[in-house]
Amino acid sequence: MQVLGIETSCDETGIALYDSERGLRAHALHSQIALHAEYGGVVPELASRDHVRRIVPLIEAVLREAGATLETVDGVAYTQGPGLAGALLVGASVASALALALDKPLIGVHHLEGHLLSPLLSADKPDFPFVALLVSGGHSQLFFVRGVGQYELLGDTFDDAAGEAFDKAAQLLGLPYPGGPALAQLAGQGRPGAMRLPRPLIDAPHLHFSFSGLKTAVLTLVRQLQHDGRFDEQARADVAREFETAVVDVLAAKAFAALRQTQNRQLVVAGGVGANQSLRARFAEEATALDVRVYFPEMAFCTDNGAMIALVGALRMADAVHDYAFQVRPRWPLTELRTVEKAV
Ligand code: KG4
Ligand code: ZN
Repeated sequence: MQVLGIETSCDETGIALYDSERGLRAHALHSQIALHAEYGGVVPELASRDHVRRIVPLIEAVLREAGATLETVDGVAYTQGPGLAGALLVGASVASALALALDKPLIGVHHLEGHLLSPLLSADKPDFPFVALLVSGGHSQLFFVRGVGQYELLGDTFDDAAGEAFDKAAQLLGLPYPGGPALAQLAGQGRPGAMRLPRPLIDAPHLHFSFSGLKTAVLTLVRQLQHDGRFDEQARADVAREFETAVVDVLAAKAFAALRQTQNRQLVVAGGVGANQSLRARFAEEATALDVRVYFPEMAFCTDNGAMIALVGALRMADAVHDYAFQVRPRWPLTELRTVEKAV
């Protein structure tokens, strides 16, 4: 069974073809980074228009690469939410139009379920149940994943998401959008321990996060350094290094506490912040020491992509509809999803 996946929830057009027997056949991505860079963030209207421009050529490219045709596609999956309404509508309308024209089933996929299950795209994948740390631009959450659609929320952020904190701290350091990767690069030149920032809620007896205080601490530190005339290249890198370490410390403390709490030995790290190399190294090191396994999606499937949407579409073929009057869900709690009894 072959499912075409379409992702347009934010600033990346992602298309993929997933075969339930043979795995991922092909995938393609167009990132809008260059388009939004001069505005310092995603401009929703420009994002929607760019999805319109890219989506059909990318679908054609993926089918060509997979040696497939529209006729051989068994179902069309698209990101139904959460995300930017206008951007979601582009993927939803193209997916619905395709499914209608081909008389094929249509599957509306939850973007975060895509991130949560993205490690299943790898050859070495976790078994259910596992603990998942979802760290993206909009989310910092810990889930206990019992199966497809069985997501127990263990921890959430009280304010900013981890990726959002990276992006805001990057802005304070004068780095270009998107902030996370730029800050991580600068942190590479920073000296460990040269600056000091707080680790919010690291010792709290629960699994929730809070990153807005950390952002304020970066602002205060940057102002102090500027006031003292010490805000040079090395100081910027030192702040970036300390910020990155602080976020990774908190994420690691909570994620490994979640493993202890659920008495589980498999941790999945998903979402854009999971692309961070310091985080990967730190989690891998701690996992070895604690004799647990950490699973990261392949780098290409950490940030937004079509492959994770096609995968979830294949797992949720039972939820497919032949009703093409679509609706997007810019806000959509993950815990509202239906359980899939038999999957993978
Ligand atoms: O999952 P994602 O691509 O989009 C959603 O938010 O759904 O995540 C994007 C977030 C951004 O905040 C970005 O700055 C962050 O992930 N990010 C990183 C890195 N790569 C992406 N943060 C830290 N280090 C990175 N290498
Ligand atoms: Zn995402």
